[in-house]
Amino acid sequence: MKAAVVTRFDQAPRFETFPLPTEIGAHEEIATVVAAGLHPRVLSQADGSHYTSTDDLPLVPGIDGVARMADGTMRYFVQSDGALGSMAEQTIVDRRRSVVLPADADPIRIAAAMNPAMSSWVALRRRIDFRPGQRVLVLGATGSAGRLAIQVARHLGADRVTAVGRGAERLAALGADVTVALDGDDDGAIAADLAEAGRDVDVVLDYLWGEPTSTALRAIVPKRADDDQPLSWVQIGSVAGADSAIPSAALRATRLQLVGSGQGSVPTRDILSELAALAVVVSGDAFSLAARAVPLERVEEAWAEAPTSRDRIVLVP
Ligand SMILES: NC(=O)c1ccc[n+]([C@@H]2O[C@H](COP(=O)([O-])OP(=O)(O)OC[C@H]3O[C@@H](n4cnc5c(N)ncnc54)[C@H](OP(=O)(O)O)[C@@H]3O)[C@@H](O)[C@H]2O)c1
Repeated sequence: MKAAVVTRFDQAPRFETFPLPTEIGAHEEIATVVAAGLHPRVLSQADGSHYTSTDDLPLVPGIDGVARMADGTMRYFVQSDGALGSMAEQTIVDRRRSVVLPADADPIRIAAAMNPAMSSWVALRRRIDFRPGQRVLVLGATGSAGRLAIQVARHLGADRVTAVGRGAERLAALGADVTVALDGDDDGAIAADLAEAGRDVDVVLDYLWGEPTSTALRAIVPKRADDDQPLSWVQIGSVAGADSAIPSAALRATRLQLVGSGQGSVPTRDILSELAALAVVVSGDAFSLAARAVPLERVEEAWAEAPTSRDRIVLVP
């Protein structure tokens, strides 16, 4: 069968032949792939830079997708670790790591949205003690995961959602209650806006890390309205840098709780147990996310476009 195949970590996958495994497990089935999302996590899987990567090549990238099963149902699935990912004409779907989708679900929308939406959904439901009525700040709100985090926080009952990121006009279109643009010339004004926005937030969902996280902590912590109010800062993505200088006083001066949310820090069983509820919401029209379908045979073009695409690219065999 044909698949996107990575043979070297320093070049994009190519549309080539890849063998299907001859042995499959008791809960597994060979299924026809309908759509697979090209998420940042897939880019880092394919260039070997993700923290779970091994040096084993060749591999077919893709961590999730939508597949047609032998019984005709469509399932959203999360791929097990191994050489065969979801960016192939066929793949192995483990029924325990997948959920049946409504018959009228849009597979492109599901493949585009489940991974970025899961990042905030799991963080709020499984990683911290989030309660309806709390105030959420999304740091890095303009990406697919950040845009969905605004909608997920609202869906789960957040009282006020603040969107922080680059591009005032783009931020204004995201439907948040408050916005703070990080890309102005006046650092003092940005710090003042961050301080005001962070005065009484309960939760920060952080997709940036690097310098912006350091800047935000330095701005927010000294200006908290009430130092006794807990602040859960959840590290989810690192598009602005893998490392961030955390001011030591931030951890002493307020009730700051710094945690991460992702593969490893949230048990796999917890992530899997959230799939069904999230798939129902994503299948409906509650969340909006721009997605663009690209034929699997054009995988090399998709790889070149993905890092700067504002739409989530979805490969379609
Ligand atoms: N832990 C988890 O469970 C989990 C799950 C899904 C995703 N993630 C991670 O979350 C991050 C975001 O994923 P995504 O799917 O949203 O990616 P994406 O759609 O590619 O969006 C990335 C966004 O980051 C913004 N950005 C980059 N550098 C920035 C900076 N210095 N300051 C402000 N904004 C900056 C870009 O902003 P512009 O629009 O201004 O270019 C872009 O909108 C990635 O690191 C991904 O790996 C984690």
